[in-house]
Amino acid sequence: MNSNFLWGGATASYQCEGAWNVDDKAESMWDHYLHENDLENGDVASDHYHHFEEDIKMMKDGGQNAYRFSLSWPRIIKNRAGDINPKGIEFYNKLINCCLKNGITPFVTLYHWDLPQYWQEVGGWLNLDTSCAFAHYAEVCFKAFGDKVKLWTTFNEPKWFTVNGYLIGNYPPAEHDLQHTITCGFNVMYASALAIQKFRQGKFQGQIGIVHSYSPIDGIDDTIETKIAMRNADNYANNWVLDTAALGSFPIDLLAKLSETNDISFMKSDLLKTIAENTVDFLGLNYYARTLVKPYTTGETKMVFNNSGKKGSTQMRIKNWFEQVMDPNSEYTEWDTEIYPKGLEDGLIRAYQKYHLPIFVTENGVGFHENINVSEVKDDYRISFMNDHINALMNAQDKGADVRGYFTWSPFDLYSWMNGVEKRYGLVAVDFSTLKRKPKASYFWYKKIINSNGKLV
Ligand code: BG6
Repeated sequence: MNSNFLWGGATASYQCEGAWNVDDKAESMWDHYLHENDLENGDVASDHYHHFEEDIKMMKDGGQNAYRFSLSWPRIIKNRAGDINPKGIEFYNKLINCCLKNGITPFVTLYHWDLPQYWQEVGGWLNLDTSCAFAHYAEVCFKAFGDKVKLWTTFNEPKWFTVNGYLIGNYPPAEHDLQHTITCGFNVMYASALAIQKFRQGKFQGQIGIVHSYSPIDGIDDTIETKIAMRNADNYANNWVLDTAALGSFPIDLLAKLSETNDISFMKSDLLKTIAENTVDFLGLNYYARTLVKPYTTGETKMVFNNSGKKGSTQMRIKNWFEQVMDPNSEYTEWDTEIYPKGLEDGLIRAYQKYHLPIFVTENGVGFHENINVSEVKDDYRISFMNDHINALMNAQDKGADVRGYFTWSPFDLYSWMNGVEKRYGLVAVDFSTLKRKPKASYFWYKKIINSNGKLV
């Protein structure tokens, strides 16, 4: 492992900050949606807003040298006119300074799903004005923090929030509409390109990328039908983000397939040109599991995620595209996530061979129901998960992939979008009633691995 390798953890503003209405922060679409529907929310979450010094000190004491976090757009920009909230800028300056003081490289995501509600009210990502507003917000951040932050990403997981928001209906605005899904996906990739254009035009120092929820695709056999299903699944899950961000164009066979059922004429040539001219410097890949598929040509489309922690409730079958299947020989979590470290090795190699860009593993981790009312949480399952995945990362490096960092999800417990505080991912336990922090066994294990720069896995 190179001595500049980044070892850290990743969080998202909505999932950890709390302080949802403090210091003139505007409402986000998640604040609005969860309050309206009376669902468990992140109003307080891990209260990182008031505990960030303690959290960053904990990272430093745990040997970590990088912290991936997101900025909250509604904390920084007050309204559709684009007015800046000085208190939002002040908060992130304090957080970034605290990182630097502790020898932690800040790795900043501009958007981890907390769209300002004032944009959602006028159509959100279905309205191209939101893409332009995102570019304005990005430029405000580059100007405010660009002297200290050198690693930026535009979006966290365009595929995940687009599909969950507009197709499956799990996330706000909770729609089931393919046309809106396509529009949102396009407008987000355009917004990413516009922000990159601002970054380059402003001659800000550093590098800018995008973060993708990477699920490498495997097939159940070698038949031609399975290969077609694999290509469909890859276009659905990966290529529309990665090809577009890294190569500057949407997969042509995907556009052809979508145009059979939908209107894609809104993808105008000037917008496509901006996308083509503003590709990323690096890729951030979040890896949780691969997708194993088989053909699916008859029967109804069914897309159900396991949001309950009850095994076996996932269903993912898209007619004339693919069906996701479970591997009887694999281990799965209570949320039906396959534990498959080899997928990380395969995925890093495939992504590097296809895009030839530096890669950071920007999220990798595993969520469990955990009892934290013990003297130390002995999360051996998490240690074993991380050990095997870091090992897979190193195998990929040995085979030539240019991987420059690893961020565990998450450095401390935080709010999970669909499971609230019940699904814990952290290396540090957070008692959500007292907000006290306590390292788990995995925290001390990770420190040893980092100190050996990966040699001890
Ligand atoms: C990633 C997201 O897709 O998965 C995180 O970037 C999210 O925001 C993480 O929390 C784990 O998902 P979940 O639903 O189990 O919390």
